[in-house]
Amino acid sequence: MADNETANNTMDNNDCAAYFNGQYLPLSQVSISPLDRGFLFGDGIYEFVPVFNGKALGGEQHWQRLLEGLKSVDIPLTYSVQDLKDIAQPLLSDDEHTQILYVQITRGVEAVRKHRFPVDAKPTVLMFSTPFTSPFDITYSGCDAYFQEDLRWQRCSIKSISLMGNVMSYLQLAKDGVANSEALLIRGEHVVEAPSSNVFMAKDGVVFTPPVDNILAGVTRQLIIDIAENQGIEVRQVFPTASEVKQADEVWVSNSYEELKPIISIDGEKVGDGKPGPIWQRLFSSYQLLKQ
Ligand SMILES: Cc1ncc(COP(=O)(O)O)c(C=O)c1O
Repeated sequence: MADNETANNTMDNNDCAAYFNGQYLPLSQVSISPLDRGFLFGDGIYEFVPVFNGKALGGEQHWQRLLEGLKSVDIPLTYSVQDLKDIAQPLLSDDEHTQILYVQITRGVEAVRKHRFPVDAKPTVLMFSTPFTSPFDITYSGCDAYFQEDLRWQRCSIKSISLMGNVMSYLQLAKDGVANSEALLIRGEHVVEAPSSNVFMAKDGVVFTPPVDNILAGVTRQLIIDIAENQGIEVRQVFPTASEVKQADEVWVSNSYEELKPIISIDGEKVGDGKPGPIWQRLFSSYQLLKQ
């Protein structure tokens, strides 16, 4: 993560507006049971939604992915997308130009801590909003990246709150003394994803990104694919090999927080000419227009 990320987003989250199981209250007053299965087992699903001038960017896709994630793990939330939007609305402030809405729904609290599937847990619903400034802009000079083996599970399409594999990737970067760099995760010989973002590369004017096959269907990823295709840039959804990524003209990663982050070196070797490339610049600039 870049240093400016910390500088821009330092507000104490405790003061933020929250919704918790039917009540609106400051985040600091939310009290979650230690017997919540989210806390005990990481048994829950989350979303991270960027909001610009009160409007969620890719909002429908975020809400839809949340409901699909809950369904795929049988967390029985009975809310519709509209119910979720209605709950979120009071958390969004007109005074803040940019906010993040964090949503987490767990299987709920059970009376006894046990691995077996609970019969009567009721989902715990938490949402809160925080002010936010994107850590990167068009002048961003780029980020170094390192290949790592993908240590995560086999259902990476689910936006699970169990993120130990992802945490271990960042731990490895920190141990290697490059905590602010990015990890590019490899399965077999293919680059699949980064620990909290999707991966893109460009070669000879064509954009490549892994297909949604045991990776997260990133909302930003799809927005970028749509922008590129609308501009006549060919996008191929295939898993590139590590050596193809190393020899790419451009590489970048995408997520709702960092938007599009250019990668300028991999394992110490320059990507292209070692600077953010023209396709990245074009797509990143077009992405900014979606916020208006
Ligand atoms: C593993 C992983 N891949 C991709 C993404 C990007 O998803 P989105 O663009 O919806 O933020 C994320 C976001 O947290 C992620 O954790």
